[in-house]
Amino acid sequence: MTGSDILRTVHVLSVVVWVGGMAFAHFFLRPSLAVLEPPQRVRLMHAVLARFFRAVLVAATLVLVTGVWIIGARTRQVAQSGGKFQLPMDWMVMTVIGVLMIAIFGHIRFGLYARLDRAVSAADMTAGGAALASIRRWVGVNLALGLAIIAFVLLT
Ligand code: HEM
Repeated sequence: MTGSDILRTVHVLSVVVWVGGMAFAHFFLRPSLAVLEPPQRVRLMHAVLARFFRAVLVAATLVLVTGVWIIGARTRQVAQSGGKFQLPMDWMVMTVIGVLMIAIFGHIRFGLYARLDRAVSAADMTAGGAALASIRRWVGVNLALGLAIIAFVLLT
C-alpha cells in the first residue's frame, strides 16, 4: 500500500459521500416530500440540506486536494526519472469537470442555499419553495456530471 493508494481511497470515498448523497436526495428524498404540507417540506429540506452541504464542503475539499496531490506526486516521480509527465486524457477530463462541479456546489451552497436560509428565517415559504426548486435543478446537473465522470474514468 503506497501513499498514492491512500490518497486515491480518500478521493473515491469522498466522491461516494458527495455523489451518493445527491442521488439519495434527488431520487428518493425529494419525490417522497409530497406526504408533507408545503411549509413542512421546505423546513425539512432546509434542515437536511444544512447537514448534507456541510458534509459536501468537506468531501469536495478532499476530492480536490487528493486529486491534485496525486497529480503532483506523479509529476515529481516522472521528473525524478528525467521525464516530463503528460496528464492522461481521463485525468484531464476529471480535473476540468471536477472543478466545474465544485464551482456549481459553491453556487448552490453560498447562493441558492443562503436564499433558502433567509426565506425560512422570514417564514416566506413561497420564496423558500422557489430557492429549493433552483437547488434541485443544480443538484441534478452536478449529479449528472458526477456520474458521467465516474463512468468516463472507469470505462476509458
Ligand atoms: C476536482 C478535481 C479532481 C482531480 C484533480 C482528480 C484527480 C484524480 C486522480 C489523479 C486520480 C487517480 C487516477 C489513477 O490513479 O488512475 C483520480 C481517481 C478517481 N477520481 Fe478523480 N479527480 C477530481 C475530481 C473527481 C470527481 C468530481 C469524481 C467523481 C465525481 C472523481 C472520480 C474519481 C474516481 C472514481 C477515481 C478512481 C479511478 C480509478 O482508480 O480507476 N474525481 N482522480
